[in-house]
This record gives sequence, C-alpha cells and structure tokens, in this order.
Amino acid sequence: MAKEPEIMRDKDQMRTWSRSMRSKGKTLALVPTMGYLHQGHLSLIQEAQKHCQLTIVSIYINPGQFAPSEDLSTYPSDFQGDLEKLKKVGVDAVFCPKNLYDYAIDSKIPSGSYSDLGFDGTGERKVGSCDENGVEFGKDEKNPRGSSGDLGFEGGVKGKVVSCVEEKGDGRLGHETWVRVERLEKGLCGNSRPVFFRGVATIVAKLFNIVEPDVAVFGKKDYQQWRIIRRMVRDLDFGINVIGSEIVRDVDGLAMSSRNVHLLPEERDKALSINKALSKAKFSAQNGQISCKELRHSVVQAIFEAGGRVDYAEIVDQESLKPVEEIKSPVVFSVAAWFGKVRLIDNMEINV
Ligand code: PAJ
Repeated sequence: MAKEPEIMRDKDQMRTWSRSMRSKGKTLALVPTMGYLHQGHLSLIQEAQKHCQLTIVSIYINPGQFAPSEDLSTYPSDFQGDLEKLKKVGVDAVFCPKNLYDYAIDSKIPSGSYSDLGFDGTGERKVGSCDENGVEFGKDEKNPRGSSGDLGFEGGVKGKVVSCVEEKGDGRLGHETWVRVERLEKGLCGNSRPVFFRGVATIVAKLFNIVEPDVAVFGKKDYQQWRIIRRMVRDLDFGINVIGSEIVRDVDGLAMSSRNVHLLPEERDKALSINKALSKAKFSAQNGQISCKELRHSVVQAIFEAGGRVDYAEIVDQESLKPVEEIKSPVVFSVAAWFGKVRLIDNMEINV
C-alpha cells in the first residue's frame, strides 16, 4: 500500500490540511515521534489506522524535553529512511516542523537567537553514546544521568534554565508556557530526568493544537509518558482519544528502541536480562508471589548478575503510578537499567 504522504514543515500548513480533511468528514489520528523509526513506531501507525481514516505522523526532535546537560545534538536521525518506511505503511501526512518554539516567524520579527533551536530532522546526526532518551553520559560524575536536578533549577543560565529551549531563548519573546502533570511526572523516569515530562507534555499539547486529531497513539514502552498524556488530555479537556499500544520487541525479547543501536553486541546480550527478569517476575506474581519487595529484589539481582546497573525497578499502580507493596490489583513493573553507556527502559503489566 505504498503511497506518497503529504509532507508538511509548517504548522499553519499542517493545521489548514487537517481542517480541510475534517471539513470533508475525515477522522484523523496522530502518531507523535522523534524519528529514526523502527518497528515499534510503525506498530503505532498500524494501530492508528484501525481507528481513523487518515494518519499523520509527526517527526520532531523536541529540544524542550532535553536538559542542557543532555546531548540533544547526538539524537539519531534518518529523515529519508523514515520517509521510505512511512510510505510503505501508507501514512497520509508527515508533519516535520523545523522549530516549534520559533514565534518570531509567527510575528514576522527577525528570529534572532531562536533560529538555532531548529531540528528539522533532515540532517544525519552523529550517533553518540546516549541513553534511552538521547542523553549523553559521563559528563558529570555526581549527576551521571545528565539530570538538571529539581525543577527549581540547577545548572542553567542565570540559575533558571531547565531545558534546551530556555537555554537558547533570549527571555524576552521566547517560549515560557509549560504544561506540567504535577504528580505523575515525578518518580520513575522523572527522578533522573526532571525536565523531561514537562517538555513532553508541552510539545504534545502543541502538536494536538496544531493537528487537532481525533485519536493519538502512544507506545506503552514509555508507560509513564503514555499515562501523563492521558491525564493531561483528561484534565485539560482535549477532545482526543489517547490510545496505548503494546510494546514491540525484537525476536530475542529486547524492547525495540532507537537507542539499542548504541549497545555493543555483548551489552545487548546482557540487556536481555531485563525482559527475562520481568517475565519471570510476572510468572511468579501470577502464581501467588504478591510481595513487591521479593519481586523487585529478584529483578534487581538478575540484572545486576548479568552486568547491568539498575536505575530503578518499581512496581506501581497502572493508573496512578504509585508504588504498591503487594500485588492485589493491576500493576506495571517498570525498570530502567544501564548496560555500558546505554540506559534502557522496559516494563511489563501484571494483571492479577
Ligand atoms: P519517540 O521516542 O520517537 O517515540 C515515539 C512513540 O513510539 C512513543 O509513543 C513511544 O512510546 C513509541 N515506542 C517507542 N518504542 C516502542 C516499542 N518498542 N514498542 C511500542 N512503542 C514504542 O516518545 C517520544 O518519541 C517523544 O517523547 C514524543 C512523544 C514524540 C514527544 O516528543
């Protein structure tokens, strides 16, 4: 079903296209991505196609979800390769804006210092040593995951900068509105990346306002992200159905991720311990082991013995993401662990 999608780089063009399709009675699904697409991303598109007549994929490497200490510039990108894949799965439109924080363009003011925030996804980026989310490691011994500390601000210009957007902005006409899902953004990945979910919620809200989709599809691979977006949509009354799509794994069980490319072959083998340990814990839970302490211990131990370093291994309620002590209702077992210089995340839902 190969077909040429409409490619839109401008948000007004995107909005006009969406509205014209809606006026023809078409339903629209949006799949937000940062590009460098793999089968996990493509599965979201297939899910989207089940729900709506037209599917739009956005490709935008969002500087607002990267702290200045994180290496945005090494986030992998392959725009031509992505387009080929998107053609094959029959996507209707691709939205690949240059810079969604450049309001100078809107008001016809010279863009000045905002222009270099542009990541149009068309250039090849050097693949460096990054974590699951594009963070370069080892820059700060005390803060090896590249976190900016509490959102009350460490490590930025004039003590205020928390993301790459604020770092680049001149503080006069720049972006200053942020969406925060205050409790859900804390814990799990929020501990090591305090800027991340604020940036994700904000860019997704912007994409929703530009594209105005009926449905949006997110991967459960990023479980906390999916829950945060669902909560934002409910709390702010976006009329959008947010769907969570199952994790796609390689044949050996490793959850697919753009970051897997950074794993050395032996690290990749060791990283299989995450899925194996989670599967074993799920089996134990379903066979009566309801103590989260025991289950967490077994997973941490297995990953450690394989040569990984656990960032967190938490069993949390599927909706609230609050830690539980015993499994008596649906939970998700979420793990982040390092193998070499790569931080991987994975999770498994346990429905007892
Ligand atoms: P990105 O990492 O490109 O992921 C885009 C979408 O693909 C997310 O919803 C993610 O959960 C999903 N995904 C990634 N790997 C998957 C896998 N193995 N199985 C199923 N789904 C998978 O997540 C982001 O981009 C950004 O934070 C974004 C939401 C686009 C906001 O900038």
